[in-house]
Amino acid sequence: MDTPEIALTRDVIERFAETRDPRLKAILTSLVSHLHGFVQDIEPTPDEWNEAIGFLTRIGQACCDRRQEYLLLSDVLGVTTLIDILNHRPRKGATETTALGPFYVANAPEMPSGADIARNQPGERLHVEGSVASEDGRLLAGAIVDVWQCDGDGYYDVQYPDYKEPELRARFRTDREGRFAFWSIMPSHYPVSAGGPVGEMLAATRRHPFRPAHIHFMIEAGGHEKLVTQVFPADSPYLSSDAVFGVRTSLIAEFPQGPPGSAPEGGPEPWRRLSYDFTLKAAGRSPEAG
Ligand code: BEZ
Ligand code: FE
Repeated sequence: MDTPEIALTRDVIERFAETRDPRLKAILTSLVSHLHGFVQDIEPTPDEWNEAIGFLTRIGQACCDRRQEYLLLSDVLGVTTLIDILNHRPRKGATETTALGPFYVANAPEMPSGADIARNQPGERLHVEGSVASEDGRLLAGAIVDVWQCDGDGYYDVQYPDYKEPELRARFRTDREGRFAFWSIMPSHYPVSAGGPVGEMLAATRRHPFRPAHIHFMIEAGGHEKLVTQVFPADSPYLSSDAVFGVRTSLIAEFPQGPPGSAPEGGPEPWRRLSYDFTLKAAGRSPEAG
């Protein structure tokens, strides 16, 4: 004889038997089975379950046009990164991906190679250059390299209440050799938004809210999968404890001091530099292929 809880789980799953859409049916069957398993595992008291419902309610109430607290919950539970991994299986030789994050803005201004995306921002000057290639080693001319980063205080342009125009974000096109370059400033590490219920959960579990410093890249070239990734300075704090689990070892890079008197395009001194070469997956190949 089945226990009452096993009979209940089966009964709930059977209640979805008439679902026409096979994907929806599979999702709900798995959801009920895992959710019931979770509840059996922790055996919450009614008060604990009410507290959980209250937590989820407060997460919903914290959401508005400018804030997505459910996405933040997904981020700090590692689910956003898990979905990124499942949808962009690492392939040998191709650059690893990370999640897009909440601060991407489409149609950033297109700038010529060598432009300064930091303009008048204070901070340690940084020269970034690199290449975009296909898996077979072919350098890709005309690829669009979309970059965005926070400032030296850890804020993205869109986080400022008086935000008017894009800062520290731009799009570049690779040249005939598949290369791009721009000037910027060193990004800072920064906390994810911790003033709501997700922040309370982090505090209650003695977790810090910080992400290590990084520069976001989105790279598109015809016949290739779009690459969304981030590059992390090797000397940033929080590399081993990113609040959203986005760091991959292959994406950590040295940002060394540039030799005095040799800044590209007669750029400012002192300066640091990043050189990073990206490899895009050819479109249409099987995700697991070696
Ligand atoms: C970011 O802000 O960089 C970010 C946040 C959550 C997930 C991924 C990226
Ligand atoms: Fe970011």
